Amino acid sequence: MSTRKTRVGIIGAGWPGQQHARVLGAIEEAELYGCAETDAPRAEEFRETYGPRKIYPNYRELLRDPAVDAVVICLPNFLHFPAARAALEAGKHVLCEKPPTLNASEMVVLREEASRRGLVYFFSRQFRFSPTMRMARSLIQQARLGQIYFAEATWVRSRGIPQGIGGWFTEKSRSGGGALIDIGIHALDAAWFLMGTPRPVSVSAAVFRNFDQLVQAATFDVEDAAFAFIRFANGAVVQLKTSWAANLTDEIPEGRYFGRELNNCTIYGRKATIRLRPFTLFEDVDGTLADQPLEPADQADPFELQMRNFLDAVKGITPPMNDAEQALYLMEMLDAIYLSGSTGREVPIARAEKTEG
Ligand SMILES: NC(=O)c1ccc[n+]([C@@H]2O[C@H](COP(=O)([O-])OP(=O)(O)OC[C@H]3O[C@@H](n4cnc5c(N)ncnc54)[C@H](O)[C@@H]3O)[C@@H](O)[C@H]2O)c1
Repeated sequence: MSTRKTRVGIIGAGWPGQQHARVLGAIEEAELYGCAETDAPRAEEFRETYGPRKIYPNYRELLRDPAVDAVVICLPNFLHFPAARAALEAGKHVLCEKPPTLNASEMVVLREEASRRGLVYFFSRQFRFSPTMRMARSLIQQARLGQIYFAEATWVRSRGIPQGIGGWFTEKSRSGGGALIDIGIHALDAAWFLMGTPRPVSVSAAVFRNFDQLVQAATFDVEDAAFAFIRFANGAVVQLKTSWAANLTDEIPEGRYFGRELNNCTIYGRKATIRLRPFTLFEDVDGTLADQPLEPADQADPFELQMRNFLDAVKGITPPMNDAEQALYLMEMLDAIYLSGSTGREVPIARAEKTEG
């Protein structure tokens, strides 16, 4: 095992790129070596704030630098696949922002490429490392919920259609989708992760675009809401609700930026139910239902814990928590939600099998 600092390059200097850079500053075993950013003023601001050794005008130049060991891809969604594939081909470990790719078939290629080259592919899902998620997971691992049979996964906003540089969020060819691939993926992953990542087997879903009047971008051809019912091989089910825009009722609290907003997850087990917001355990105690407010054990930074897990995986100290296999399952669920939405039928999830290689 090498003791040299892992040299990390950040690709894309928007909000997530800045979060990854911030936490790298706190990690002794790694160095923020470089940043690739096409927008020169953004790159300069990033350099002044986070002090990487090098700035590159685009990601391909960063990937050509042999000094870089690992990259963090924070590009618009349609560039995740080409940048991650090019990074793996250049021998770099990859931490890629969500969504992992635009679809499952792209993710199969990345999984194969990483495995063939013995490199780490890791998809960013910092919420898995949040104080409440870690405590909920620990209670579930202690079997406090008993057998899990149902989960509600919710991320809804009343007025929250994102813009992004160049309006790519609302254009299907560059984003891969709307509310579902942007925020629904977080809610779905939270529920699926707490359930123990069971194998998805079928999806029934509906997707909608109802709020064209809220969008200034030139193109708006993605969904602003999606609703799905997903079955797993172990018999458990998830109900997912997500929206960028909806006329939400007043039990959804007012958020800071996007009107009414709720990002929540509730996992139902035979012995107890756990809800993330407000963080509570609803437990059967000798036949009576008892509500128990929960307090997370610490307030550690989820981006930092995620980065530490990625770096430990790069050094071979621990397996990656957010691995390529799980990224593929997530993309299969998203593909099936879009297909079910467009056909109006329940869609079986056929495993995208490993390709020969
Ligand atoms: N984990 C989270 O909570 C979270 C939050 C927000 C966004 N994201 C994800 O992060 C990604 C980026 O989102 P964003 O909001 O920062 O978008 P953004 O459009 O604000 O930023 C993307 C950046 O990439 C740069 N870029 C584009 N092409 C490039 C190239 N060839 N080489 C180098 N730089 C290039 C752009 O100039 C821009 O600064 C998205 O995939 C999004 O889904 C994740």
